[in-house]
Amino acid sequence: MSTKPKKAAKPVAKKSVAPKGSATKTKKKEADKKAQKYPSLLRGMKDILPKDEQFWRNMSHVGESIAESYGFGYIETPIVEEAALFVRTLGKGTDVVDKEMYLFEDREGKKVSLRPEMTASIARAYIAHGMHVMPQPVKVWSMGPLFRYDRPQAGRYRQFHQFDCETIGVHDPGADAELIVVAYNFLRDLGIDTIVHINSIGTLDDRSRYLVELVAYLRSKRAQLSEESKARITKNPLRVLDSKEEQDQPIIEAAPQIIDWLSDESRNYFMKVIEYLDEMEIPYMLQPRLVRGLDYYTDTVFELYPMDDEVRSQNALGGGGRYNGLIEQIGGQPTPAAGFAIGLERIVLELRRLEEKALAEAQAAAVEGVIPEAVPLPPKIFFAHLGDQASRRALSLIEKLRREGVVVLHRIGNNSLKNQLEFANKNQVTHTVILGQKELQDGSIIIRDMASGIQEIVDQKKLKRELERILQRFAAVDTK
Ligand code: HAM
Repeated sequence: MSTKPKKAAKPVAKKSVAPKGSATKTKKKEADKKAQKYPSLLRGMKDILPKDEQFWRNMSHVGESIAESYGFGYIETPIVEEAALFVRTLGKGTDVVDKEMYLFEDREGKKVSLRPEMTASIARAYIAHGMHVMPQPVKVWSMGPLFRYDRPQAGRYRQFHQFDCETIGVHDPGADAELIVVAYNFLRDLGIDTIVHINSIGTLDDRSRYLVELVAYLRSKRAQLSEESKARITKNPLRVLDSKEEQDQPIIEAAPQIIDWLSDESRNYFMKVIEYLDEMEIPYMLQPRLVRGLDYYTDTVFELYPMDDEVRSQNALGGGGRYNGLIEQIGGQPTPAAGFAIGLERIVLELRRLEEKALAEAQAAAVEGVIPEAVPLPPKIFFAHLGDQASRRALSLIEKLRREGVVVLHRIGNNSLKNQLEFANKNQVTHTVILGQKELQDGSIIIRDMASGIQEIVDQKKLKRELERILQRFAAVDTK
């Protein structure tokens, strides 16, 4: 006889009398409990997943080749630096220093910071390694993560990545223009058409004359300004011009423009940068109110935005400018310099937007009966196998192919052919190699063209040659 206690009968569900909204509250509590079970991703941080692998590989490849072709050498500085390096160079009163730095004390009580940008660190490295004795300019590039405790939103993260180029040791409009061209070409090679917004904020002397005028103007409008901008009138008045607050915008619009306070020398320098851009046919727009959000800039400042009107008003893809005082400010000799940085997460967002736009256009064209020209997919080969013996043989063939430079995908485990072909389709595979029991015995193998469904039976010994032929045929079409 069973000693198991009898299961209690299920209570009959009573009609709920709970107040409206309590079910969603319970659900939320349950979800919160579940979420607490696992360590969660910090706010504003992002995992880079295999689905975006192609974007990241491409950005790294294009960045490296473009930097190399313009004569920039690779530099990598630590992610953690003395906090004072950034406070002194980026400036008190800037958003980055006042609100966004990841600051902490190390075990010896030293105040350190996760780098919020690369320029100050590169300037420190230039001094530390005596690079001023090298032939000038010293041109360096880098790519890596940065940290800003920003309010997370689309295109704004707390950890993000930049492609950064700096030209140190020369004061020449040609150097400014070259940097703009490198930034522009980097984005163009990735498939993004941009427009450069450009301005000059002059030398420190020009600026101090301008600031007298600006402060007087801002004081006269004090009552209409946001609280943050009010505080900045005395702390860092130029930063009022970066304010994103709605109520500040009409006051910024009518503010005196720095370009009117430039000395003849600064104005001529700026005109030459513009002439270079004209010469190189770089699309640009003069932006008299562009001052950039960091304090170290002098003379030329610029930002790059997608050419597309729809998103032009949103975040810049990148920006930079000249910073002639920075190296001296942190203890080096007076050294002119300029550079730029482009945000890689913003590129991925923009490329995704362009992909979606192209898809929507193709769908609209299909509705109107216009057949868009088919773009051939790059060949991707998948190896399907059926049965234990065939799986073992497949693995050894795949390994041999890999060693000889032919990459094929496959699925580990005992999957049905249907299942494997579905996987191949999902992964946009163009050709599938199939090895079953019959092929195993007669030494043959099937190659299936996934688009047409046509199958070809070939000798296993000739598999590598056949696959190479498929890959080369595509390369020939691609370069036509
Ligand atoms: P920045 O304008 O602060 O300049 O940053 C450059 C780019 O980094 C931005 O245009 C944006 O694409 C990206 N970025 C900045 N903050 C974030 C964020 N929170 N989330 C995602 N992307 C972001 C600099 O960093 C200067 N160091 C550039 C420079 C180099 N100037 C001279 N040399």
